[in-house]
This record gives sequence, structure tokens and C-alpha cells, in this order.
Amino acid sequence: MRWLDVDATIDHMNKTPAADNPFADADSAEGRRAPPPCAVVLFGASGDLTRRKLVPAIYNLLRDGHLPGGFAIVGFARRDWSDDQFRAELLDGVREHARSFSEDDGLWERLAGATFYHRASFDDAGGFESLGKRLAGLDDDLGTGGNRLFYLATAPEYFAPIVGRLGAAGLVQRPSAAAGPRGEPWTRVIVEKPFGHDVESARELNCAFLDVLDESQIYRIDHYLGKETVQNILAFRFSNGIFEPLWNQKYIDHVQITVSEDLGVGSRGPYYESSGALRDMMQNHILQLLSLVAMEPPVSLDADAIRDEKVKVLRSMRPLRGEAVLRSSVRGQYVAGSILGEPVPGYREEERVDPASVTATYVALRVSIDSWRWAGVPFYLRHGKRLPKKATEIAIQFRVPPMRLFGSATARSVQPNVLILNIQPDEGISLRFGSKVPGPDIRVRPVKMDFRYGHSFGVASPDAYERLLLDAITGDSTLFTRRDEVEHAWRFIDEIDRAWRDAGADGLRFYEAGTWGPQEADDLLEGDDVWRRL
Ligand code: BG6
Repeated sequence: MRWLDVDATIDHMNKTPAADNPFADADSAEGRRAPPPCAVVLFGASGDLTRRKLVPAIYNLLRDGHLPGGFAIVGFARRDWSDDQFRAELLDGVREHARSFSEDDGLWERLAGATFYHRASFDDAGGFESLGKRLAGLDDDLGTGGNRLFYLATAPEYFAPIVGRLGAAGLVQRPSAAAGPRGEPWTRVIVEKPFGHDVESARELNCAFLDVLDESQIYRIDHYLGKETVQNILAFRFSNGIFEPLWNQKYIDHVQITVSEDLGVGSRGPYYESSGALRDMMQNHILQLLSLVAMEPPVSLDADAIRDEKVKVLRSMRPLRGEAVLRSSVRGQYVAGSILGEPVPGYREEERVDPASVTATYVALRVSIDSWRWAGVPFYLRHGKRLPKKATEIAIQFRVPPMRLFGSATARSVQPNVLILNIQPDEGISLRFGSKVPGPDIRVRPVKMDFRYGHSFGVASPDAYERLLLDAITGDSTLFTRRDEVEHAWRFIDEIDRAWRDAGADGLRFYEAGTWGPQEADDLLEGDDVWRRL
């Protein structure tokens, strides 16, 4: 055994090429499979997501050497575009949104040469049959090997019809149990959110998908799971020996999860009117963060082992019903105010929003998890649009020491330890603890121990969509939500939604844009707990 020079080790990891890096070897031994050839078919190809997220992510994957040799993109939409018009649209998006872009390295030309536009309507069977012919042609011309990844980036009402038409046109096959060692061509479907708008509709959608596909072929996306810092929750909890023993009701006082946005609803008024903060962010992203923080250690890193544990958390959340909803939740809506000194309109003045809307743009919940580990530990969850800044963090607040040794004079300055997982934008982890202030008196002040991604690893984190697309291509569904996960999450949210609807405008609070939400949210917190200032 010898002393370890930590700084030198990290420095060495950062500077050593992957091939010579012993740490990289350890990773790659259990690493990802090489991406197989495939064609990615984008339904909703003329939409914003394709332009802003999906194709820039594919371009980044190509830049980083993660795309297979045989690869093609086929955009499927109704707009009257040629291949070249489609490529020109995508190029604008890539220029604007890819992590880095160069006009001169020929990468875009390579991708554009494998990108095609298929003009058709989602309800026209002929369009799916001709898609099949086109894909078969690409197998011959570009070596896509018969593998297909269908990406549903359309309005949700088209999800089931598209999958039905794919089935009818013979474009999806269930995996056969008798696949040989080299496998057989696969088909997978990624589906965007929202997956249903309540438990009933989610169930119906699941049934419509499962009529045609096997669960293992369905990749329900939640882009928060693709964020590097969200994936790190598991690594942080289960690859370190020091935190997990404290990760329970004996040592943790409460947990706060905040997802705050400074943006308003922009041009998404009609969508947001039907979803509101509860469905738009709480049912999916925030409950996903909660299940990663609260889950038990999985038996392995297999997709199902992890998802089994996440589902247990969702199942053990104490349902909020009727009166309990009103006691344990606060909903708000922004009125005109200012963000960074700029005046912004109220929600009811936004484009295509009902001027008398009671849609919540802010939600705060106090929830309990009835499990051995979490009995008695409140989880406070909040999300709002038009808050002062964009920030997502998970704060684990520990119990104070059992005895205040430092006497009453300093008692106020002894603050509980808080572990903060900064998801975005300032990605990292920090721990707050008390330290003696230098000098003759015993005074204790909180200080911070900080880890920052940018500083320690020196590279920008890939976009969530890069990771998720690559996982779907390689057939890893760990970071996608399973059928039962989605349905349990809806079951919890539906009760809250029902109680809010029954209460109508009563109980909707207003907050000025650029503030931290309605005052009433403070009353949700128990005892001396306060919302963290971000
Ligand atoms: C989406 C929501 O799922 O997530 C948006 O529909 C929200 O309303 C967005 O703005 C936030 O994502 P991110 O990655 O910017 O935090």
C-alpha cells in the first residue's frame, strides 16, 4: 500500500489518451457495444425538436466517432420539401445547436449525403409502404443492414396511429426468440413525451404499442435521464462507500428537488394549456429525479434491474388525495414581471393562452415515501416557469448533530450539512459543512466542498439526446422509462390533478415573473425547513 497523490492521478487521467489510460481500459472492459448499422426515421421531421435537438445530436455523435459505418437519416413529414430543402433546414439547426461545428471538415457533407426526406402523411398507408421501399434501397446503397430506429417526434395524437401503420406496412417485427448469434435485423421505436395525459390514456397508448411491438422495442424518452449529471446520481450513490450508509431516514432530514426555469411558455401556449407544470415537468422529469435519489441499490446495472428499483419508489409514494392534495401542494401562475431587468408578460397574456386560464405554471409538492429507508423524511419538489433563473438541483439536507456542543451563543450559526447535486447549469456536487472561523473564539461558519464537472474533467458534457440516441441504437434501454414506471407516475399525478380541477380557480396563486413563486409555497415546509435560495 502507498500514499496516493490524488491531484496527480486526476491530472494523469485527463492528459492520457484513452488507449493508454488504465482507467479508460477499466471502463471499456464493461463498455458499450459498437453501434450497429441502421437507418433512423424521424417522424415529425419538419418540427422544432428535429432541427434543434435530434439532428445536432446525431451530428455530434458523428463528430465523436460514435455513428456506425452504415447509417442514414430519413425525415418523414407532410411539408412539401425536397431532400435538399430538408438538408438545408437541418444544416441551419446544426450550425446553431451542435456542440461544435466546422464548415471545412466535410463532416456535414457526409451526414447530408446520408440524409433523405420522405414526404407523406401520417394517416396515409401508401406513405408507409413507400417508406419501406426507400429503407430497403438504403440497406443496399448505404449498408444500413435492415435495422431501423423510428423516432416519434410528432404531436402525441399521432403516436398510436404511426405505430399501427408501421405494423400494417410490415415495417416492425417483434424480436424472435430464435435469433442467431449474429442477431437479426431489429426495429425499435423512440417515443417523445408526453406519453399519455393521465393513467388511462397512458395505458391505452401502451396497449396500442404492445399490439405491434415488444416492450423491449419501446424506448419512452425522458431527456432528463440522458443528462450527464442525472446519470451521475447512480454513480455517486453506488460507487462511493461514504454516502450510502447515511442515505436514509436516520441521517437525512429532508430532500428538496428544484427545477426552475426563467423562460415562459413562449409559443407553446396550446400545448401548455393542456399540460401545465404538473404534467409537463412533475410527472416525468421530477419524479424520475426523485426515483433515482430514493431508489434502493439495484442488483446490477441492467436496464430492468435499475428500473425495477425506480418503480418500487413510485409505488411507495404515499398517494395524495382530496384534502391531502390541498394541504401538500401549491400551484401558481405567473403574472407580468421582469427577468434580468426585462419586462415579460403574464401567462394569461402569452400567445394562444386563454385570458382566464387557471393552468398552473408553478407547482410545489410535499411528498412522502412509505418505505423502511424514507419513513418520516419529507421530499419537497418544486418547479416553475418565469422564476429568477434556470437551475436544477437536488439538495439532501442532513439532520443536525444530536447535541449542540458549541453552546447557545453560536447555535444559530451551526447549520445542517447539505449535499447538493447540481444538475444544471453549473454541473457539479457540493457539500456544506461547518468549520471553525480562525481566531481566538469558537465560531462556526458553513463552508463548501465543491466538485465541478468542467474543472475536473475539462470536457463539455454531451447533450442528453446524444446519449439517448446512441443507447437506442445500441439497444440499451436503461435510460428510458418502462411501461409500469410511466403508469405509476401518472397514477400519482392524476389524483393531484383531479383535486386541483375540483377546486377550480380556488387555490391558484399568482406570482410575479422573476420571483421565486407564490409565498404559500413556504407553508408547505415543515418545522424550520426553508426552500433553498438558488
Ligand atoms: C421539457 C418541457 O420536457 O423540458 C419544457 O416540456 C421544459 O417545458 C424543458 O422547458 C426543460 O428541459 P431542460 O433540459 O431545458 O431543463
